[in-house]
Amino acid sequence: MTDFPRVPALSVHDLRKTYDNGVEALKGISLDVQPGDFYALLGPNGAGKSTLIGIISSLVNKTSGSVKVFGVDIDSHRDAAMRLIGLVPQELNFNMFEKPLDICVNYAGFYGIPREVALPRAEAVLKDAFLWDKHDKMSRTLSGGMKRRLMIARALMTEPRLLILDEPTAGVDIEIRRGMWETLKRINAAGTTIILTTHYLEEAESLCRNLAIINHGRIVAEGPMKALLAKLDVEGFLFDIESEIPQQLPHIEGTTLIALDNHTIDLEMPRAMDLNRVFEAFDAAGIRVRSMRTKSNRLEELFVRMVADSVETQA
Ligand SMILES: Nc1ncnc2c1ncn2[C@@H]1O[C@H](COP(=O)(O)OP(=O)(O)OP(=O)(O)O)[C@@H](O)[C@H]1O
Ligand SMILES: [Mg+2]
Repeated sequence: MTDFPRVPALSVHDLRKTYDNGVEALKGISLDVQPGDFYALLGPNGAGKSTLIGIISSLVNKTSGSVKVFGVDIDSHRDAAMRLIGLVPQELNFNMFEKPLDICVNYAGFYGIPREVALPRAEAVLKDAFLWDKHDKMSRTLSGGMKRRLMIARALMTEPRLLILDEPTAGVDIEIRRGMWETLKRINAAGTTIILTTHYLEEAESLCRNLAIINHGRIVAEGPMKALLAKLDVEGFLFDIESEIPQQLPHIEGTTLIALDNHTIDLEMPRAMDLNRVFEAFDAAGIRVRSMRTKSNRLEELFVRMVADSVETQA
């Protein structure tokens, strides 16, 4: 069990940031992340995600507001707060001419972790990241996905209680991304709280339990992934049709029907609507359904809608 059972892993209150050039990157952000959570920060380019992460990890000065990490205030106890955080920044920032083992051990050294503790720990994190066979190779010779995994391994050297990853899988192919998801799931299951920003919504959907959507420096949606998705009043289905789809699709009040190809119909309908009405209409039109599935891009839909709404309310 954690030593602070009821204290949030991260507590941000009314955080504001205006850069020197006058850009208001954060306009009053408040959020709590509970210990053990896997939390997604989503938002379009320039929304303020990296600024928020920069402030939490003391790389960026805030204009006003407060940040506590496991109850430790980043202003009054900066070093103590930093020791609780592991950061995987958006850009690769290790020395390409160092070897992964040295990168990990030296990083631990910055945090005052002695070499004899750091060495076995580096072996463990590199093995976990499937990089042990590369521990003695020049980092520049690693593939892009390996470099990303090295960034995560390095952040784990201090055994952080809060791991913050700023687009850790950007530009990484789907197979390696899936491998990284497994790594992150394992770290989270072992008790580490994780905050992740990503532009891959299926990544957030498969990993995260809670999320916040940020747009123009404000939170426009926040809460459990499931609850937010449930709020969507439109549901999408794909039907696999046995015979050829007729030229003229039936008209079903309140729904949108599109033939994607000769055997697939895309349907959007209000969540409250009875699906039997669709089957009856299909039946009457001689359309026989072989199978159906829900469209899984619902987070995307939520995202697009929340971001569009927040632009409208600002205008
Ligand atoms: N050092 C800086 N000086 C001035 N303005 C900045 C600075 N860093 C960021 N900004 C501005 O602050 C706003 C938020 O940027 P930020 O990098 O936090 O967005 P982001 O959500 O991380 O975007 P992305 O998804 O592209 O990484 C943008 O308008 C950006 O141009
Ligand atoms: Mg960013």
